Parts: sequence; C-alpha cells; structure tokens
Amino acid sequence: MNLATAGIVTILRNTMKSGKSPNGVADRSSAHITRREALKKTVVFSTSFLTAGWLNSLQAKSPEIEFSKDGLHFLAIGDFGSGNANQKAVAQGMATFAKTLNAPLTAVLALGDNFYGKHTPERFTNHFEEMYSKDGLDCPFYACLGNHDYGPKYDSNQGPAKAQIQLDYAKDNPQSRWKMPAKWYSLELPNAKKPLVKIIFLDGNTIEGSLTPQEKLAQKRFLEAELKKKTGARWQWVVSHFPMFSETVKRGDNSKLIEQMGEYLKTNPISFFLTGHDHNLQHLEAEGFKTSFVISGAGGAGLYDVKPSTRGFTEKILGFTHLHVARDKTTVQFIDTESRCLHAFQRSLKGKVEVISKAG
Ligand SMILES: [Fe+2]
Repeated sequence: MNLATAGIVTILRNTMKSGKSPNGVADRSSAHITRREALKKTVVFSTSFLTAGWLNSLQAKSPEIEFSKDGLHFLAIGDFGSGNANQKAVAQGMATFAKTLNAPLTAVLALGDNFYGKHTPERFTNHFEEMYSKDGLDCPFYACLGNHDYGPKYDSNQGPAKAQIQLDYAKDNPQSRWKMPAKWYSLELPNAKKPLVKIIFLDGNTIEGSLTPQEKLAQKRFLEAELKKKTGARWQWVVSHFPMFSETVKRGDNSKLIEQMGEYLKTNPISFFLTGHDHNLQHLEAEGFKTSFVISGAGGAGLYDVKPSTRGFTEKILGFTHLHVARDKTTVQFIDTESRCLHAFQRSLKGKVEVISKAG
C-alpha cells in the first residue's frame, strides 16, 4: 500500500493558514480551533477509528517499506536492556523490518534504560552487539540515558558508574555501533554540511545519584544554545528518556517536565519529542503544543497498561518505531514483533499531522 494513496484521515490544524516558517511555528499560531477541538472532531467523524482511540491492533497492517530515496530512515527503541526474550523479539523484528526497506537505516535512536540491572562488561557483547544483528541493523545506535542507566538503589547500586560504563564503551570502541558521545549532545544528519535533521539528545534524569546540579545547569545552557544555533536542517527533533505526556495507566502526564520543557517546545520548531520510560507505544498530540509526542518504550522490558486516548494512539505491546524523514514530510510507523504496523502518521514540515489508515 502506498501511504500517499491510502485512506487518510486528516487531523488537527485543518484550519491553519500557511505561514513563512519552514517548520510550522507561524502556521499553528493562526489556528482557528484548538487542537483538542480538532481531535474531538476527528474522533467523531472518522469511522475508521475507535471512539476510544485512533487505531488498535485489530486494524494492524503491513508496514510501508517504499519511501522516497532522498529521505533518511530511523528506528527508535527505549527500555530495551532486559537481556531477555522480549528484547530479542524486538531486536529480531527491527532487523527483519530494516532489511525490507529500500534504503539502509541512518541510525537507531536508543531512548534510554539501555541496560537493566547490574552492568558488567560482557553485557555490551551479549545484550547489544550480538542482540542487534548487523544483518539489517548495521548503523549507529545513538543513545541517551534513562533512569535505569544510573543504577539507583532499585536497580543495581552502581550509581553514576553505570552511565559512565556506557559513555566509556562508546569512547573506547569507536568501531562499535554504540554511540554516546556525552550525556547530552546534538547531531546533524546525514552530515553537518548538508543536514536534513538535527537531533538534540538530552539526559532527563532527576533521580538522586544521576546528574549533579552543575550538570543540570550545563545541560540547560547547552539546550538553549542549541535551540538558538543556526542549522541548515529542515527538521529538529528532541530525544530524551522521559515523556511529558503519557496515557500509561499508573503514570500519566509529567507536570514537572511539562513545566520544565514546555516553553522550549512551544517556542522552537521541534517537530518530534521522542522518548521511552513508559513500556508501551504511544503517539500523542497535546493541546497547546505543536510538537508530536512519540513514546517508544516497548523495546524489551515488561509492558505497562495504557488508557485509550482522544489525544492519540496508545498500545501495550512489544515493538519499535520507524521514522522516515524526507524534505517535506516525516512518516512514523509503530511496528510490533510480528511485523504489523499498528499505527502510522505523517507530519508535514509545516506541522500538519495525518493519521494513516486503510480505508474500510
Ligand atoms: Fe525509565
């Protein structure tokens, strides 16, 4: 199925005017209706979607694999470092899917909680190098740190040393696919000379024994400088472990993080905020925000219950997220270990979001 010809349900921003901003900031500010109103209308008028949510696994289909050659392919996984059969199933699903694409992956985005429990040297071999087959996944894995990567008391008691092991491994093994140049960093891909997408990786940890007050301040300054810095990239994404918005039953929205990060997202052209931490798959569009929120935390740990949502797609299932970023649109697919696409959407550079569904 070609996504462009699929039954497309257009949501959100349907009354927004075109603006000059290439990233949609100006477009969204002229909305005549709120995003929540737009979502409500969508849910009411779309017969393809359940009223309790946008799409569920009953409507799963094969993922799209044909994309424009000028774009870049990414996979995103979080909360994968269990070392168990769940992680293996997702890893195999990723490799299988990647091999079907018409172009190689540019990178895998590792969204944190990369290693649960005590970190020992052989875990990089067993739970990373050998877990993710080079046959299909022969690309850099750019990683950020989750709460379990600091090994607080509930995990391994390794504290900051656990994070340092991951930073050191990247530094000492430049030939490895494991990439973690710092606790926070940014990348322009495919290269800094002619970038299509800029990705800012953050360490969102606030738990005791993670970032020091000095590090928190340094990271804040880094983020503000990065957002101010000129880039040739048409797209800007932020990657961090902790979601701002979530429909996980026992968690929900993180008001502290919304307060901390909200203004940055509202005042800058960030099209995607990609996170893990909640062990499920979610795509949410939050009222008042122009950013699309993706949670891809189903990479191998035990799953968390989700609520159905009028803000988007939620599914308690093992899997990963595929992103294809092209000049004028990014396509996002949520894929399970059985190679089924559970939910897909496209986002234009101007910020129009279209949920893609097979007609009928
Ligand atoms: Fe986490």
